[in-house]
Amino acid sequence: MNKYYKKPRSHNYLSVLSTSFKILLSPVVFVAACTASQVWAGEKDKDDENGHNRHSKHQIRAIKPSDYAPVDAKKAVLGQAFFFDKELSGNRNISCSTCHSPLSATSDGLSINLGEGAHGFSVGRNPGTYPPLATDPLERGQRNAPSLFDRGAKEFGSMMHDGRIELDNSPDGFLTPAGDELPPGFNNLLEVISIFAFTEIQEMLGQPNENEISAAAAAQGSLFTPVWTKLVERIKAQPNYHPMILAAYPELKGDINGFNIVHVGRAIAHFQNSSFRTSLNTPFDRYLNGDEGAISKEAARGFKLFTGKAQCASCHNGPFLTDQKFHAIGVPQIGPGFGGVGFDGREDFGREGVTKDINDRYKFRTPPLRNVALTGPWGHDGAFNMLEDIVRHHLDAKKSLNNYDISQCVLPSRLDLDELDFIATNNPNTRYEIEQRIEIPKIRLQENEFKDLMAFMFALTDPEHLDLRHTVPKSVPSGLSLAD
Ligand code: HEC
Ligand code: HEC
Repeated sequence: MNKYYKKPRSHNYLSVLSTSFKILLSPVVFVAACTASQVWAGEKDKDDENGHNRHSKHQIRAIKPSDYAPVDAKKAVLGQAFFFDKELSGNRNISCSTCHSPLSATSDGLSINLGEGAHGFSVGRNPGTYPPLATDPLERGQRNAPSLFDRGAKEFGSMMHDGRIELDNSPDGFLTPAGDELPPGFNNLLEVISIFAFTEIQEMLGQPNENEISAAAAAQGSLFTPVWTKLVERIKAQPNYHPMILAAYPELKGDINGFNIVHVGRAIAHFQNSSFRTSLNTPFDRYLNGDEGAISKEAARGFKLFTGKAQCASCHNGPFLTDQKFHAIGVPQIGPGFGGVGFDGREDFGREGVTKDINDRYKFRTPPLRNVALTGPWGHDGAFNMLEDIVRHHLDAKKSLNNYDISQCVLPSRLDLDELDFIATNNPNTRYEIEQRIEIPKIRLQENEFKDLMAFMFALTDPEHLDLRHTVPKSVPSGLSLAD
């Protein structure tokens, strides 16, 4: 057992920090969020023929260019370099693309990510051997790395499975774990979230004694301002970046000294928003615009079930098939958990961790479903490696929760990490608590109906996103390897 795990982690955001970091950081500013999540209003089981009324009722419509923030090509090119360059991680051993790889549908193919220190790519990612070396990861991440499709759409009012980075009514308009340390000048939420992976010890920062960025964080007792300041210095020290930065930001008037962390977040946001947005006129969008043959008959029947009898659209609605709200659907809890909460300190209370409202326990943001067939494993902790199984889970969540088969997840093995993975789901008390909060009713579908629903899930794939190799650059300005 790794010594890191001897002490149960405390219930706050900073529980993501290693013990040594925690001591250095005080006092902790903890901001509660204000968005109350809507109670699920179940619908009557009506299987009518009038598909179109149902679409408009659930506001499921074709995607329009105006749904997204605008994109600037030069910023996107710079953002692509940042996204793939390990120079931006404390130990120069991981980039955004490690966990959000275009070769793995902008995610990592794992139930729960393995951050800095691990080696290799996607399902082959390797946490090292037991006992771990000092440079191996101390732990798994805490949640499934989500895909990045369409996160540049304006309707995303919160980011992360628990929405802890979100729009609010404060003067700068954003609520984040950085509190007052968030620099001014951001235009949208995707720009904001794009500077946060740098500040996560397990994801990109590294341990306090390992590099000058994490050391500055430890010395100054904050994971935010010192990290962002040092990171900007590091990028400025790479002359290859200068022409790209100055071209992307003419307002700098050729002076690299004006370059700051907001420019970093903005560029990465432009890259994601241009490369990973759903293309116009996908088969499903054409179908929504009246071309009935654009998707198969099975998928069209599946869509009718989705908006009708199967009640999916009560939460998965709008053009991206999410209500952007938080719901408890009883996905089994695997992995180390989030924030050291629950019976064994291995649970994930989801939205409650942000709002501190017990009514938000086990609620997670309804995920968008465009491209959902590509983005497994599914659920906030990737508990389901088969799309069919997360869909079946919704139909009888209690049964699925209590009969969860641990061979369903994708967690590369290391003895000390493995020991923690199933503590929560093996505890009947935890399962009972999760079960009590399930919001979705049991729904009976015939097997042929279920097949139609699955056909609809697959019909949500954008054919242009099946192959994203063109979004990977040949090299990055630092000259570091794109591979591990
Ligand atoms: C070690 C893996 C890892 C790395 C590296 C990483 N991420 Fe993530 N990312 C995650 C995980 C896990 C989450 C969800 C965290 C949560 O909900 O608590 C996430 C969430 C996100 C989200 C929110 C998506 C949503 O639907 O809410 C965005 C956007 C994002 N990351 C972008 C980036 C960018 C940009 C970088 C590089 C600067 C990056 N990530 C680096 C693992 C990673
Ligand atoms: C009460 C709201 C609600 C309803 C109704 C609902 N879902 Fe979900 N769905 C969610 C939430 C919340 C999650 C994420 C749960 C988690 O991460 O633990 C989710 C996750 C999913 C996922 C996995 C997506 C991913 O990226 O991980 C799929 C697929 C899905 N739902 C499909 C459906 C289908 C099909 C139906 C109808 C049978 C349905 N949902 C009904 C709220 C709902």
